[in-house]
Amino acid sequence: MSDTAARHRAQIEAWNGPMGQQWAAGQARTERDLQQLTEALLRVAKPQPGEQVLDIGCGCGGSSVAFGAAVGPGGFVFGADVSAPMIEVAKGLALPQTEFALADAASYPFEPGRFDLLISRFGVMFFGDPDAAFAHIRTAMKPGARVAFACWRPLAENPWVRVPMGALRAVLPSPPVPPGAEEPGPFAFGDTARVSRILTHGGFAPPAFERFDFDMKFPADPVKAAGLLIQIGPAGRLMREQSEECRAAGMAAIAGALAPFVAGDRIVLVGSVWLVTTTAV
Ligand SMILES: C[S@@+](CC[C@H](N)C(=O)[O-])C[C@H]1O[C@@H](n2cnc3c(N)ncnc32)[C@H](O)[C@@H]1O
Repeated sequence: MSDTAARHRAQIEAWNGPMGQQWAAGQARTERDLQQLTEALLRVAKPQPGEQVLDIGCGCGGSSVAFGAAVGPGGFVFGADVSAPMIEVAKGLALPQTEFALADAASYPFEPGRFDLLISRFGVMFFGDPDAAFAHIRTAMKPGARVAFACWRPLAENPWVRVPMGALRAVLPSPPVPPGAEEPGPFAFGDTARVSRILTHGGFAPPAFERFDFDMKFPADPVKAAGLLIQIGPAGRLMREQSEECRAAGMAAIAGALAPFVAGDRIVLVGSVWLVTTTAV
């Protein structure tokens, strides 16, 4: 198996393991936390009544439902995701004009030329071979179809991961190895030159990038906040690989590192995102 195929498979396994289960269990909270971002995505995507929308990596379906409401009963949103636990949650939220499928967007046999709009809220950064995946997804789009997705800016600009990972680096026996520039993961689309390459190679126009920052809010108790942070981000995967003793040291280190971010009755960490827009050529 090639490196890209192995990485792709590892992502699918991860989203069907404890991480996917935790995202599924935390759906209501995630939706609340990402509401501002969903509104920003609606603003740049401009869904119109009656449009056919493809939501890549739709997860528990929150963005699909928001876009389903915008396109109305005459429109349609198809949410595709590889995570069985998350798609199960999505199916429970469905509107009549939304449909969810357990589907690998890199290879799923989409109906050719069907969609007016491609959207994603943090669901496009996990392909082992993103150039090939976007070229495949392009076949599902009408010529001139719009694209609007949200992806994280680089790790250095995202303290909600930088802070816990930095704390773990200081206490774990073998420090985390940062992913390579071409490897999948939450920050794989932080580099605008790389995203432009992937999209133009895939048959899309050179994209525009709008910076969008929002407050990510966690409980003021740093121990509780640390518990939540390791459920949603890369620190969780790292912690799961550790002995019980190292996990306890890691949790204490993360909680200590979060203490300076207490603001009133919350811990607030900035989430820094690219809103990427383009069209199919
Ligand atoms: C960070 S989560 C975001 C979920 C959802 N869009 C949200 O905002 O709540 C990333 C999602 O991408 C999905 N994903 C990863 N690789 C995928 C692939 N090859 N095809 C479809 N979905 C994929 C994961 O299963 C996961 O649900």
